[in-house]
Amino acid sequence: PIKACLFDLDGVLVDTAKYHYIAWRQLAQELGFTFTEEDNERLKGVSRMASLDILLSIGGLELTEEEKLRLAESKNERYVEYISGMDASEILPGALELLQALRSQGIKVALGSASKNAMSILDHTGLTPYFDAIVDGNKTVSAKPDPEVFLLGAKEVGVLPEEAVVFEDAEAGIEAARRAGMRSVGIGSADQLGQADLVLSSLSGFSVKQLKELEHLPAP
Ligand code: G6P
Ligand code: MG
Repeated sequence: PIKACLFDLDGVLVDTAKYHYIAWRQLAQELGFTFTEEDNERLKGVSRMASLDILLSIGGLELTEEEKLRLAESKNERYVEYISGMDASEILPGALELLQALRSQGIKVALGSASKNAMSILDHTGLTPYFDAIVDGNKTVSAKPDPEVFLLGAKEVGVLPEEAVVFEDAEAGIEAARRAGMRSVGIGSADQLGQADLVLSSLSGFSVKQLKELEHLPAP
């Protein structure tokens, strides 16, 4: 039986991609090149330092480790300022309803995010009370597609991988779920997230009944 849901944060529960985008774009501008919305797609689910490497490759820049740390820090300071202005209106459609339904039916809920700012985002949007466990970029060593973040989440809520379902908007996240031996629901387009057991355009209207139907599919 399915006993837990593990949620990615950015792009699944809240729309923070737009803030990451503005902050990275400003950094690129300061470095003298343009960073487009299309470029930003490549940073979905990618850790902060790996995102910076992608950005610098777009600008054709090679910097020292020390310079890179300074730039990542400066991008993050700006990003933190944006998210400090977030509130519940930025929760994505259907997310709150699903979290409430899971809670009322006794299904465990955990966060599995690469972000080191996850706690602050959950607090500002009022989502913290819905979680039984929070695993974020401060608790993990390996980034998705490594399964670490989801294996830890399942462990923290006391369920086996085959009893957990992962919700993800990034291809690397679906791959991480698969490697963890967990079923997955992709939020986005089927072209990109075809490896998921089910792909939805958003969480809107997704019910616990539909979740339970995933039990009939074999765990990866
Ligand atoms: C998520 C987002 C990425 C972001 C990463 C790290 O995976 O999708 O775009 O780079 O978290 O976020 P952080 O808040 O630690 O910089
Ligand atoms: Mg995401």
